[in-house]
Amino acid sequence: MDALRITGNKRLAGRVQVSGSKNTALPFLFASLLFDQEVAFENVPRLWDVETTLKLLQEMGCEYQWDKEQGRVRILPRVRQKTASYDWVKKMRAGILALGPLVAKFGEARVSLPGGCAIGARPVNFHLEALKRLGAQVEVEEGYILASVPSRLKGCSIVFPEVSVTGTENVLFWGAFAEGETVIENAAQEPEVVALGKLLQSFGARIEGLGTSVVKLVGGPLRAPQQSISIPSDRIETGTWISIAMATQSALEITHAAGAELGSVLKAFRQMGLGIEEQEQGRILKITPGESYEAVAVETEPYPGFPTDMQAQVLVNMCQSQGVSHMRENIFENRFMHVAELRRLGARIETEGNLARVEGLTRLKGAPMMATDLRASASLVVAALMAEGTSTISRIYHLDRGYDRLDLKLQNLGADVTRVAQ
Ligand code: UD1
Repeated sequence: MDALRITGNKRLAGRVQVSGSKNTALPFLFASLLFDQEVAFENVPRLWDVETTLKLLQEMGCEYQWDKEQGRVRILPRVRQKTASYDWVKKMRAGILALGPLVAKFGEARVSLPGGCAIGARPVNFHLEALKRLGAQVEVEEGYILASVPSRLKGCSIVFPEVSVTGTENVLFWGAFAEGETVIENAAQEPEVVALGKLLQSFGARIEGLGTSVVKLVGGPLRAPQQSISIPSDRIETGTWISIAMATQSALEITHAAGAELGSVLKAFRQMGLGIEEQEQGRILKITPGESYEAVAVETEPYPGFPTDMQAQVLVNMCQSQGVSHMRENIFENRFMHVAELRRLGARIETEGNLARVEGLTRLKGAPMMATDLRASASLVVAALMAEGTSTISRIYHLDRGYDRLDLKLQNLGADVTRVAQ
């Protein structure tokens, strides 16, 4: 298992390019199951979650080629078994997205329940309730979701009790094939959901209201894409680079940025006192460090609110501010596991329920740390880059799940980062 050794308190300089979005790439790759012809993708990030998705598709019978250097993937969808097995879904909760296109196209699927996740219970009940309302028979047996559709899915009204990103994505798949109209209320408005909706529109799906809380679809036949599908830039990676720039007091230029999708994040960093210049509608972000930073109060919310996937990183930046900052985590319970690790570096963070209270002007000192989940591991990297001395972060497979060669990109900016086998 790899670890990262980082010697921090070093200023970085230069330009860094953001890779394709993980949370868009995964539903896009699963969407290839809707077709019989080859589907091609570009700007695919080099991530373990992409690898896991491709292996899952392969296990179903699909063939694929992945040119990692060029970021190109070709999938020849030849589905022989409509099963997403535990072996893969346990590695990546987004495996639940297999349920969308399998049921939409074939009217049947056998998908493993996602394994326990370190950041809370993360059930899939919303997905299953929605699928039942659309007319499918759904059972859970021996850890697998067994879904079958007697004739055809029937459009209906789906009201999500809470906003769910992958839940909304699965209903987009089903609604695009269902007979008649499907109305999704309390739909997720995340850019990744909008991107999937637009992709389905490009296949001929009739969808209205993308990016709002009410999405309407009318099912019908879809046509396979004729051109390569490009994965847009990752907004969370973009935000993580802003966090790194602030943590290291570095003037960085972030290219291929998803600045237009980061309103709430840019606002929080600017309130703290970081200079962020947006060029080309946020495709380029130029970061200028501040001389001192203000304390802020931030809470995570569904889009367009502040994303839970940036909470851990910004918590580290809060250690730089004058005074006491507050972070409230409203999306997932138990998503403060990085706090215990950050305290090992000297961070003064107290948590009470879903609220973290961060004492500012804290100088961090390097220490050994362990990554617990994807975004938590990014926050440990931010902290190690800020800290004096050397830190070792073990279990960085979590980081490799969702960040495209973060260590190499950091080295190119002058960071003292080494990947070591443990
Ligand atoms: C997606 C993102 C993840 C991000 C999260 C929230 C992908 C692949 N992952 O995860 O990076 O952190 O959105 O923005 O896109 N819930 C239920 N029942 C369900 C589904 C969800 O109770 O059936 C709850 C969850 O426990 C959580 C909340 O709803 O408290 C939101 O979860 P959801 O938006 O579904 O997260 P994911 O789609 O898994």
